[in-house]
Amino acid sequence: MSDTILIIDYGSQYTQLIARKIREQNIYCVVKPYNKIHSLFTNTSNIAGIILSGGPNSVKEKNSPKFNKKILNLDIPILGICYGMQLLCKEFKGKIGQSKSREYGHAVVSIKNNSNILKGVIKNTQVWMSHGDHIEKSPKGFIVTSVSKNNVISSIENKSKKIFGLQFHPEVYHTIKGKIILSNFVNKICKIKKKFKIENFLLNKIAHFKKYLHGKKIICGLSGGVDSTVTSYLLHKAVGKNLFCIFVDHGLLRFNESIEVESIFKRKFGKNFIKVDASNIFLKRLKKIKDPEKKRKIIGKTFIEVFEKEAKRIKNVDYLAQGTLYPDIIESIPFFGGPTAKIKSHHNVGGLPKQMNLKIIEPLKELFKDEVRELGKKLNINSELLDRHPFPGPGLAIRIPGEIDKQKIDILQRVDNEFLKYLKESKIYNEIWQAFSVLLPVKSVGVMGDERTYSYAVSLRAVTSVDGMTADFYMFSKNDLTEISKRIISKVEEVNRVLYDFTSKPPGTIEWE
Ligand code: XMP
Repeated sequence: MSDTILIIDYGSQYTQLIARKIREQNIYCVVKPYNKIHSLFTNTSNIAGIILSGGPNSVKEKNSPKFNKKILNLDIPILGICYGMQLLCKEFKGKIGQSKSREYGHAVVSIKNNSNILKGVIKNTQVWMSHGDHIEKSPKGFIVTSVSKNNVISSIENKSKKIFGLQFHPEVYHTIKGKIILSNFVNKICKIKKKFKIENFLLNKIAHFKKYLHGKKIICGLSGGVDSTVTSYLLHKAVGKNLFCIFVDHGLLRFNESIEVESIFKRKFGKNFIKVDASNIFLKRLKKIKDPEKKRKIIGKTFIEVFEKEAKRIKNVDYLAQGTLYPDIIESIPFFGGPTAKIKSHHNVGGLPKQMNLKIIEPLKELFKDEVRELGKKLNINSELLDRHPFPGPGLAIRIPGEIDKQKIDILQRVDNEFLKYLKESKIYNEIWQAFSVLLPVKSVGVMGDERTYSYAVSLRAVTSVDGMTADFYMFSKNDLTEISKRIISKVEEVNRVLYDFTSKPPGTIEWE
């Protein structure tokens, strides 16, 4: 049964958002770079519809990404967004005009014709535009279904071929009826009946791994964070005693975390839970390293080394399981060589050495964070573990801009502990997606008890988000900020100044490095 939407990525920064919005409709989708879709044409029976993303190029440029005609043979609905629509227009012999300036930001479009994809959208509706080129003449067989200011064509469709084009971005929050438009496409036009259900995902994965990993030994990097915890519980259901969970204490964990994680997972996995204290080697290799990408690469590489060493001790290990999520993959490598811009190397993806003795399995790599939490509930994982804020693989190393040493880690751990303790006590913790502290490489002058101080400044970060791909800073009350700052400064004597980071993502990222 066709139950999947294929999103072909032409390099737009919004491609992940398309995937996200389709998932919100409980429909399964996959994103593939435009230059890596050839293999898909061997079996297309599960594809119910195709979305062509936007992209930074102009279809008029000589070397711009091209339309793959093969998708027309599949005879399934196609939606082109922005660059995707211009590709369709070019393919069907319409005319593209190049504008001197980009149309960027909010715009109002007026619906002109009875349209299947715009059903349920009011006549004049606010959308989000981000394009240079535009359609001057709609292609043969297509009708214009809406226009923006100055009669610029903003959507077209070919009813009989079920091909649609939108100049604006329905996946972006600011397109007020974007959700309805995407729902019309996947539900009414592609007619997907089989919904993506997390219980089915779980059952399929367990059945798959039972068969695929039968008789094999697997080690799992367990940090105690949501992703690796869910990964380990899922694999444990499939392979039981053949799963060995390795917890690497890299010396960059939160306050008391090492002890807490050990006590929780020893209970679950018994002898198959192994803690490795590798803090000395990590700190030695990170000494005097300032560059964020270098830090990430060093940590990634050292992690794998420690795992491989441990795996040898267990003997005959074939696989390394990791809690990699979908956004990690999208942001880390330009989609397996695809066109999306690299933002940072997440240690569990981009930092892996090319030569590895273990094969990698990533059971969660198709999921977003909120879906992983849902999966965790189905696995009966205790909510205290599931509701923990995400913690990055490189840990506090990327929360101490510049050089790292033991003393700085110790200071940051104590600051962070005060911050998180306050959030939990005042019941704000669960309103926030992720909260943490950053130790700045800056000292400033203060005054305490009539004495001059010259101590570190820290910055607090708290964001709301659904999946970490976009985020808003959390708006604390003055009272909360006053109390948090007071506690930190009174409990951590090395710090005399507390700042609050009110940057959203984008333009910032959540972590500082
Ligand atoms: P950024 O800083 O990219 O972070 O906005 C988005 C989310 O990803 C987490 N993060 C990581 N997780 N390994 C991980 O497992 C990493 O290297 C890594 N870097 C960032 C970050 O904490 C946030 O939740």
